[in-house]
Amino acid sequence: MQKPSKKSTSKKLIVANWKMNPLKGSEAKKMFLGISKIANNLKNVETVICPPLVYLESLGQLVENRSCVLGAQDAFWEHSGAYTGQVSPDMVFNTKARYVIVGHSERRAMGETDEMVNKKIKSILQFPLIPIVCVGENTRDEDGLYIKDLKIQIRRSLAGLTPFELSRVVIAYEPVWAIGAKAKGVCTPAECREIVQVIQQVAADLSESADHARRITILYGGSVDITNAEGFLENGSVQGLLIGRASLDPKAFTQILKIAEKASK
Ligand code: PGA
Repeated sequence: MQKPSKKSTSKKLIVANWKMNPLKGSEAKKMFLGISKIANNLKNVETVICPPLVYLESLGQLVENRSCVLGAQDAFWEHSGAYTGQVSPDMVFNTKARYVIVGHSERRAMGETDEMVNKKIKSILQFPLIPIVCVGENTRDEDGLYIKDLKIQIRRSLAGLTPFELSRVVIAYEPVWAIGAKAKGVCTPAECREIVQVIQQVAADLSESADHARRITILYGGSVDITNAEGFLENGSVQGLLIGRASLDPKAFTQILKIAEKASK
C-alpha cells in the first residue's frame, strides 16, 4: 500500500467546497488558477479546492505544489463495478486529488446515513487520501439535547477506525442551521469552541487516547466569509475552515486565505 497522505499539523487548512459550480470547465480553470496563484505562496496555509468531479482530472494538471491541492466532494465505498453514477476513491486518487469530503449535510439530506458515511471513510482511508468528514446538528434546542444526537452522529460515522486511522481524519463541524444562503442563524466562535470539545471528547473515547484525539484536525464550516473567518480561526479552536459560497468568489476566497496566513498558530 502507498504511504498515507500526511496532514500538515501546524498549517491552517482552508477548504473550498464549490458544490455544483461553476457550469463550465473553462470557468473552473480560471477560478483555480486565480486562487492557486495566491495560495501557492502562503507558508502557513494548505488550500484544498473541491470542484465538481468532472473537473478534477483537468484541474489536477494545474496543481503546482502541496500548498494548493484538490479534493473531491464525495466518493463511493466500492472500488469498481456495477454502481451507476458512482465514483470510487481509487478513481479520485488517480486524478491526483488528496482529500475527499464525506457526509456533507446536503448529501445527508438526500438520504446518506451515518453507516454509509462510515463505509466511505473506511474505503477512502485505504488510499493516501484524507477524508473531510462533515458533522453537525440540524437545529439546536434550549436544553442542549442536540449535543447527544451530534455525539451519536460522530460516533457512528467514525465507528471501527483504528487510532491511527482516526488521527488521519479531518472533521468539519458544520451546523446545518448556519449553512448556505437560507441559513436560519449565525454560529459564533464561542459556540463552535464548545462543539470542538465535544468532538475531541468523542474522538478520545473512540481511540481510547486523548493524545490521538488532540491530533485530529477540526474545521468550522457554515457561512464563513471575509467578515467572520478571523474570528473562527482565532477564537473557534479550529485549525481551518470549510467554505461554500465565499469560495466561489476568488477575490473573497483569496482574502480569507490571507487572513488564515496571518492567524496565530
Ligand atoms: P456556506 O457552505 O459557506 O455557503 O455556508 C458551507 C458548506 O456547505 O460546506
